[in-house]
Amino acid sequence: MAHLRLGDEAPNFTAMTTEGEIDFHEWKKDSWAVLFSHPADFTPVCTTELGRTAALSEGFAKRNTKPIAISVDPIEDHHKWAPDIGELGGTDLNFPIIADPDKTVSELYDMIHPGEGDSSTVRSVFIISPDNKIRLTLTYPKSTGRNFDEIMRVIDSLQLTETEGLATGADWVPGDRVIISPTMSTDDAKAKFKNVEEIKPYLRFADAP
Ligand code: BEZ
Repeated sequence: MAHLRLGDEAPNFTAMTTEGEIDFHEWKKDSWAVLFSHPADFTPVCTTELGRTAALSEGFAKRNTKPIAISVDPIEDHHKWAPDIGELGGTDLNFPIIADPDKTVSELYDMIHPGEGDSSTVRSVFIISPDNKIRLTLTYPKSTGRNFDEIMRVIDSLQLTETEGLATGADWVPGDRVIISPTMSTDDAKAKFKNVEEIKPYLRFADAP
């Protein structure tokens, strides 16, 4: 298994999910995707995370992004657990959970870290762009639930880079001013963006388009 890096193609796979068998690339088509692993079904932190993901479905759709979860538990357990996720999230499970009991996908994406206790997956996140490139990776321990506002924030930043060539600074949130890429001249930036301010020759802010 090769170590997956930013800019690599997200490996394709077929897998059984709560929405039936999928071919991953076919399923995501030209959307963005958030592929994220959790250690086990019927566990407290995981239930809060998947409930939160279900509750954020409008935010994901607005960003042309499809979430998909994975654990090494069998499909029967995912189906039995789904009502709890709906109860926690206040909405039915509305995204697929991959069942990976033979660990094919988990190993392909290096989601099992043997030093972390057992052979279940840690909390990995892969944000994948429409061209199937890996744009962000995150790895959290089993005991710490992820911040889904941060995942949304990164998608917003990545999409600004993709569409406008812009960057975002420390603690940026949507609505804040954005950073002009170092490859663009200040004159070109002024022609393209509003309220360009040169703090340093290499640090130029502008209003977000
Ligand atoms: C949880 O989801 O609550 C959890 C799973 C594995 C280890 C620790 C916590």
